[in-house]
Amino acid sequence: EKGGHEYFMLKEIEEQPEALANTLRGHFVNGRIVLDEQRMSDQDLRDVDKVFVIACGSSYHAGLVAKYAIEHWCRLPVEVELASEFRYRDPVLDRDTLVVAISQSGETADTLEAVRHAREQKARVLAICNTNGAQIPRESDAVLYTHAGPEIGVASTKAFLAQIVANYLVGLALAQARGTKYPDEVAREFAELEAMPEAVSRVLTTVERVRALGRELADSKAVLFLGRHVGFPVALEGALKLKELAYMHAEGFAAGELKHGPIALIEEGLPVVVVMPSPKDNPVVHTKLVSNISEIQARGARTIVIASENDDIVRPFADHLIEIPAVPTLLQPLVSTVPLQVLAAEIARSRGYDVDKPRNLAKSVTVE
Ligand code: BG6
Repeated sequence: EKGGHEYFMLKEIEEQPEALANTLRGHFVNGRIVLDEQRMSDQDLRDVDKVFVIACGSSYHAGLVAKYAIEHWCRLPVEVELASEFRYRDPVLDRDTLVVAISQSGETADTLEAVRHAREQKARVLAICNTNGAQIPRESDAVLYTHAGPEIGVASTKAFLAQIVANYLVGLALAQARGTKYPDEVAREFAELEAMPEAVSRVLTTVERVRALGRELADSKAVLFLGRHVGFPVALEGALKLKELAYMHAEGFAAGELKHGPIALIEEGLPVVVVMPSPKDNPVVHTKLVSNISEIQARGARTIVIASENDDIVRPFADHLIEIPAVPTLLQPLVSTVPLQVLAAEIARSRGYDVDKPRNLAKSVTVE
């Protein structure tokens, strides 16, 4: 049942191209993005003047990616909040606020209570959920089901990638409603998304190499993860995976913050994973990251660089280079996350831990 794999998580990592294709299916009809179970009017969608994204754990990291896409495509302010913090700090909500609630299970108590609070304040709620008919979608004004299929591994993989794709669809639906993108631009973006399952399949060809690297890193005391722009949430997710699965101290940082504190942690041999954007698509951020890597390399860190194919600029700074397909920066989390999932799983396995059932964690947490 693990499809010949030692653990479910690896099977689910390999199912990601299919999960993404399933999430996209049926959401672009007659040239328009369509949501599931839309119980709010198109006018309500047009009137949205502010977006909150609320979620927990990996779903929260998917939400951080949504901010970059929605602000860029829709010219709407987006705040991303941990669901457990949201309702205890009196957020400013009204009927023109859209709250996007992301939950794989659709049953997480923190997220559900945040949804209820938002609706009491008359905000509209759009749920991104992997479980048909769960409580959060039932209490929402619109839904986008991710169709990643059931996820057995407690640590999210294919559901996480599917949530990111769903966020892009929400961004395009809002851009379409608000007219910040012409129909042909929406169609072009959707076509870019449709190319992503294939791009993820290509990343999967690196799995065995990344597993070998994981075995080399299994005795590390700590690992740091750095990224900028959408690479920052990817760094946070890479660190979370390592904590959850390998019980190893791991932290993700925005690379620009390095000099404001974390650089003090760098010591000889410390593994530091750096998520690079494509130099062609985002040369400005790329240049900044190269200078960050050179700073940590000069202090003796062991650099593990996730970079686009043919990125010759970063090559000299990488002690280990993991190549991913060159894709538009906004969509890059779909490919750059994959090696980090494999790395965490393999480090955990090498340390003798149960990758599918990490200690103290539950797949769905129904208490606040
Ligand atoms: C945690 C899980 O308890 O809940 C995480 O261990 C998950 O993997 C988080 O990301 C949120 O769950 P959900 O179902 O609301 O996406």
